[in-house]
Amino acid sequence: MMKICVIGGGSTYTPELIEGFINIHEQIQLKELWLLDLKQNDHKFGIVADFARRMVQKANCGVALHSTFTPQEAIEGADFIIHQFRPGGLQGRIADETIPLRYGLIGQETTGMGGMACALRAFPILEQYVELAKHMSNQAWIINFSNPSGMLTEFIRNYLQYERTIGLCNYPINVLRSLQNLFGCQQQEIFVKYYGLNHLSWIEQVMIQGIDRTADLWQSFHLNPKNIPDAPFPLEFLEQLGLLPNPYLKYFYMTDTMLQQQCEAQQAQGTRGEIVQAIETELLNLYADPSLDHKPPQLEQRGGALYSTAAAELIHDLVTGARTTHIINTRNNGAIQDFPDNYIMEIPVTIIQQGTEPLMLGNSHKAVSGLIVTIKNFERLVIEGYLQKNEDLIRQAMLIHPLGPRLSHVEPLWQALKTANAGFMDGY
Ligand code: NAD
Ligand code: G6P
Ligand code: MN
Repeated sequence: MMKICVIGGGSTYTPELIEGFINIHEQIQLKELWLLDLKQNDHKFGIVADFARRMVQKANCGVALHSTFTPQEAIEGADFIIHQFRPGGLQGRIADETIPLRYGLIGQETTGMGGMACALRAFPILEQYVELAKHMSNQAWIINFSNPSGMLTEFIRNYLQYERTIGLCNYPINVLRSLQNLFGCQQQEIFVKYYGLNHLSWIEQVMIQGIDRTADLWQSFHLNPKNIPDAPFPLEFLEQLGLLPNPYLKYFYMTDTMLQQQCEAQQAQGTRGEIVQAIETELLNLYADPSLDHKPPQLEQRGGALYSTAAAELIHDLVTGARTTHIINTRNNGAIQDFPDNYIMEIPVTIIQQGTEPLMLGNSHKAVSGLIVTIKNFERLVIEGYLQKNEDLIRQAMLIHPLGPRLSHVEPLWQALKTANAGFMDGY
């Protein structure tokens, strides 16, 4: 008898999760589904929760759906806790996207300085929920989608010391599905040497039925989430690098192009967060229609394609011990030989009953290992700066980040971020 709790249940993505849970309810013996959100967002939460309830009722699957503002009620006895909350809401995201731009830096919700601000808002919220998970849940698996997913997973697993933590992103499942389509094969026929951090990963090798097909990727593999401008990596660059970078790496490898694109977009139609605000209004109008009882196609305008499928399949496979491969954020534990065991990395693992085993992938490539170490150090400086309320560590983190400011802008940017995040990032 399983209980799943979704923190940030008022997300407009929730109907997709519900669809995923309905599909697996029988195999995992799902009995209770709890949606938790903030009282201050009761209007949006009410619309989403009512719609979710209609979906569950239509499926007639014997699952009870509850919505609540009380964390204890939602977390008590839970077997899975999904983090889907957005700290500071879309307003916070828009600030993350716009403030760095004023300093000539990439403004992105998960990458660079925007991602840092988002993480700093998330840490105190996570401390509160993880404490409840430790004491009240049924040794629940925490499945963290909240962004920046990799850094938050580092925080929960390595600093709050919560063992059953998995960080998820929808990009890896899209990679696996795209490879299946490209090569016309089953997922179990694919071996992929995929590694890095969340939104900072590379594919170094793809074997299909034991044959190396990596060179076929440069021309034929195109995967770009809806939220990132579709400026492709130049073909000759991919051939030279010999690795396929995550689309978020355009912010690192093509900073000038992406910055120009962001500045133009901000003038023309606003940042991605502002576009998402409009999509959200459209979705909520649809969800509020009492005759709607299935996920509308308009949800596909969001960047999180297949993200609920990733969650539902992972939960299913953890409960059943399916021995399938999933690419998740978890401790390295030898997967990439030249990185420490306790690095939280985005890597393939085999899912066993109530556990995961990393695939041993050998060493990392010299062209990318340095960047991985730099960003991991950045993550840890930010986390330790938060825990010790030591601004110097945060200034160091900003300075070592390739998308961060040079010295003259470190202080003004840090002060601007603190001012914009008053109430979420206090005590420094
Ligand atoms: P959203 O703005 O709709 O936020 C979801 C809900 O979180 C809202 O209803 C909000 O009220 C609630 N919330 C905010 N603070 C909370 C708190 N302290 N406690 C409980 N609830 C709280 O966001 P969204 O667009 O649905 O995205 C949700 C999160 O999932 C974001 O962090 C987003 O970046 C992330 N996401 C991640 C992936 C991935 O690949 N990792 C994919 C899709 C979405
Ligand atoms: C991508 C990322 C997610 C991110 C989402 C944003 O797919 O993997 O981590 O949350 O897109 O999409 P949005 O529609 O909110 O811009
Ligand atoms: Mn992601």
